[in-house]
Amino acid sequence: MSLRRTIEDATGLALTDADVGRALRELFPHDAAARAAHAPAPGTPAFDALLDLLVVPESWMFRDPAVFEEALRFVRARLADRPDARLRILSLPCAGGEEPYSVAMSLMRAGVDPRQCAIDAFDLSHAAIARARSGRYTRNAFRGADLAFRERHFTHADGHWTVNADVRAYVRFAQANLLELDAAALAGRYDLVFCRNLLIYFDEAATRRAAAVLAALLADDGLLLSGYAEAPALCRNGFTTQGARQVFALRKETDATAEPVPAARPRARARTVPPQPAPVAPQAPPARARATPQEQLAQARRHADAGHLAEAEALCRALLARLPELADAWFLLGAIDEAAGRIRAAERCWRRCTYLDPQHYEALCSLALLHEQLGDSARGASFRRRAAQAYERRGGAA
Ligand SMILES: C[S@@+](CC[C@H](N)C(=O)[O-])C[C@H]1O[C@@H](n2cnc3c(N)ncnc32)[C@H](O)[C@@H]1O
Repeated sequence: MSLRRTIEDATGLALTDADVGRALRELFPHDAAARAAHAPAPGTPAFDALLDLLVVPESWMFRDPAVFEEALRFVRARLADRPDARLRILSLPCAGGEEPYSVAMSLMRAGVDPRQCAIDAFDLSHAAIARARSGRYTRNAFRGADLAFRERHFTHADGHWTVNADVRAYVRFAQANLLELDAAALAGRYDLVFCRNLLIYFDEAATRRAAAVLAALLADDGLLLSGYAEAPALCRNGFTTQGARQVFALRKETDATAEPVPAARPRARARTVPPQPAPVAPQAPPARARATPQEQLAQARRHADAGHLAEAEALCRALLARLPELADAWFLLGAIDEAAGRIRAAERCWRRCTYLDPQHYEALCSLALLHEQLGDSARGASFRRRAAQAYERRGGAA
């Protein structure tokens, strides 16, 4: 088996020979013969080092704030139900610790202490876990507008911010491969699982394997928080969205839930409508006369999130009539089309979006998933690669 296939089988990552070649050249910057002689075997330190060069450990604090709000709502409700329980949260993949530390900071603010709620945080990459344990970050880890949490929970020195001990007390880090976890030993262990921005790097088969492991780890009444672009893949593999609004919050599909979830609609929305920072009740259209395009777009999104597709579409179209080059509006219009079952129209909108903004990550993800669902896995894989590249570029530029 080729080295690429070996890595794909072991990790689930969908790679190209060029990806592996580049990583090998970085690992063994000698001649080709030396690289061939050193083709690392699974389980060896060289194999792990190669994986470190192939993964995208990009993350930042409070990435997609709505997800953390949803997590906190869930924890509060559960502790209200079972005040003596100790909840277990899993962050997998946790990259350099940004996600689990964000959860820990949310818990602290809510007055939930580590005896009530503990966080396990796993990642494939040894380097990422070492970074997470060090708890030391550059400016790149802080990308939101509101950074008050940084003053509260980090100590600043030499251009780095180091997370304080009281936040660390919630989190236990370990290197682990999602696909190799002992699902039987961990069955039903976690009340809340974060699995975000991982499946986008997996092909359909690996996604199935991952979904089965996640379903095993999650308690039957637990909640899985995914990346919004990953929710549809999980919905194809044993999960169901909670409702129309929190499309990234998933439950295990049981006989009870499987029946009443008919609609392609929540799934379709799950694929394309990103989580919004705060769920806000929709207001009546039209937008205020002096609303900026961004405000109008935000209002259209709120309508879409609330399932008011006609209002959302009307706002989008009005906006595009004035500003036909607004890529985000094309993306949203595509999401609305898809939610309404107009798949080809959705594809046209997303293509228009990527024509205007070739690095539009969400549109590239949506096109990848759409083509995969339509059975065109080659085209799906090509959009998936472009999405991964856009993702890396966007992270680097932020
Ligand atoms: C883009 S980061 C996502 C981090 C975080 N969840 C977030 O959303 O910001 C993707 C991470 O997945 C990890 N990863 C890739 N394949 C994995 C696997 N099979 N098991 C566990 N982690 C994996 C990588 O090492 C990388 O750190």
